[in-house]
Amino acid sequence: MSDKQLIIAIDGFSSCGKSTVAKELARKLGYIYVDTGAMYRAVTLYCMRNSIIDADGNVDEPRLKREIGNIGVSFIYDQQTSKNTTLLNGEVVEDEIRRIEVSNKVSYVSRIDFVRAQMVKLQQQMGSKGGIVMDGRDIGTVVFPNADLKIFMTASPEVRAQRRFDELTAKGEKVTFDEILENVNQRDYIDQHREVSPLKQAADAHVVDNSHMTRDEQFAVILQLVEEAKAKK
Ligand code: DC
Repeated sequence: MSDKQLIIAIDGFSSCGKSTVAKELARKLGYIYVDTGAMYRAVTLYCMRNSIIDADGNVDEPRLKREIGNIGVSFIYDQQTSKNTTLLNGEVVEDEIRRIEVSNKVSYVSRIDFVRAQMVKLQQQMGSKGGIVMDGRDIGTVVFPNADLKIFMTASPEVRAQRRFDELTAKGEKVTFDEILENVNQRDYIDQHREVSPLKQAADAHVVDNSHMTRDEQFAVILQLVEEAKAKK
């Protein structure tokens, strides 16, 4: 591959396979991969551990605002495998942030404006030199509006719920399909309707609906888009 260091933004709904594609792409291109959802999950975990969020999702915003500057979110990145391990104030929380308890709360934290401002600033620093694949909800619209390639990924809620269900049960979590589907629908709604940086497709994004695509088919489509973006840069 050529040495043009692109910024590649991958946005889309939860559980539509963004991170799998983003990781695979970063590995293939020798780029860094950043999972921005993990950052919001880590902040949510901090809130849960410190009773800043209650069982109904109410956040003590004044307290979070005072503490946000002290919430360190970072990654250990393995270039060989593109595996990112998420750290919260130096502690590995990679598995904990994927649990359903965190998934159920994360939308209440990620909709807060000062939380987003802080995360966006960090994300822009991480991607400032290019050579990066970043996935999230607002990467092509807010974080890198001038990204070289913007992909908007989607799949039906049922397909996404089934994928997450398979993932969690494989890890031994006791969950039901209906519970997961409800979580997927609820997060879609909140992600699309929040006031700050709602999930929406950038005007210049390429839509990839993978409901009926294999991983290989999807990857081939995306690699083609990368080649086109390189040719334009
Ligand atoms: O991609 P994920 O499911 O791990 O994301 C977790 C949550 O964080 C999801 O509900 C939406 C939110 N999020 C966001 O608001 N902005 C991003 N750039 C990434 C994730």
